[in-house]
Amino acid sequence: MLLERIEALKAQISELTASNEETLEALRIKYLSKKGEVTALFNEFRNVSPELKREFGQKLNELKTFATEKINELRETCKAQEKEANKIDITRPATPDVVGTRHPISLVRKEIIDIFSRLGFTLADGPEVEDDWHVFSALNFAADHPARDMQDTFFINQDEKEVQRNIILRSHTSSVQVRTMERQKPPIRIICPGRVYRNEAITARAHCFFHQIEGLYIDKNVSFADLKQVLLLFAQELFGKDTKIRLRPSYFPFTEPSAEMDVSCMLCGGEGCGFCKHTGWVEILGCGMVDPNVLESCGIDSKVYSGYAFGLGIERITNLKYMVKDLRMFSENDVRFLNEFQAAH
Ligand code: PHE
Repeated sequence: MLLERIEALKAQISELTASNEETLEALRIKYLSKKGEVTALFNEFRNVSPELKREFGQKLNELKTFATEKINELRETCKAQEKEANKIDITRPATPDVVGTRHPISLVRKEIIDIFSRLGFTLADGPEVEDDWHVFSALNFAADHPARDMQDTFFINQDEKEVQRNIILRSHTSSVQVRTMERQKPPIRIICPGRVYRNEAITARAHCFFHQIEGLYIDKNVSFADLKQVLLLFAQELFGKDTKIRLRPSYFPFTEPSAEMDVSCMLCGGEGCGFCKHTGWVEILGCGMVDPNVLESCGIDSKVYSGYAFGLGIERITNLKYMVKDLRMFSENDVRFLNEFQAAH
């Protein structure tokens, strides 16, 4: 009887399957726990007659070992199955990392800096919060010059009696010219990129802050021809080898003579189109020979040294290169706008 039950149980156990740890644990309890079916047979062992005890004992022990091994074996299969289920599928498409783009103003600033670096210019820097001296007085602005007015300049601290004591946000990067000349003896050959501020209503064509790059070259015998040659090279590097330049007389308090530079229209090549208002030319910068008064203000002997300066707006150049119609786009951080410059890197 008992022998048959042992065989029946063994057959049953050999057929067992389990798909997860839970069902496996249920099986272990069913057969091997204190109240399990295998254990129950051990309890019946007492009733077996002494001459059969040896044989039954052996069979029972075999059954227990068989059951334990079977459960262990199933446990291994379960674990392997679970591992397989949690495996990372390396063939699935990856979630791409969103990589930012360089801001168009940064792209163009870098391009301009690279061109002038190749021509021997080094970088100079100065503060955005400035005093009147560096932005106006040293640059030959008369005390009543309209650029000093509230309409143009942001004041940090305004002195009613003495304009020279005003603390302001610089309205152009020409202040860095002054700082460099005060600090350094000629020859000086620098460019200074930086942010400038003007108290203007924000529209598609004007903003209360924008970016400029200033250039300054001071040495013995620097002439207007040197200025023109450097600007021609610059324009051709930036807009292409066929670009032409033209200089129109202009006025700045700190340069004499002064000029504004146009380049041949990059859209029509100078033929005349809607973009250049049918003139064939677009304006890109202001320039001139440094006024002797400025050199003297900065402690440089104007009888020995001469020099030229130029200043350009980075937004303006960026507009021309990339046809951005609205200045406000540059400071709105609209990712759709910024992504358009991915290919320009
Ligand atoms: N500072 C002038 C401006 O902001 C530009 C300029 C710089 C002109 C240097 C001449 C020489 O408009």
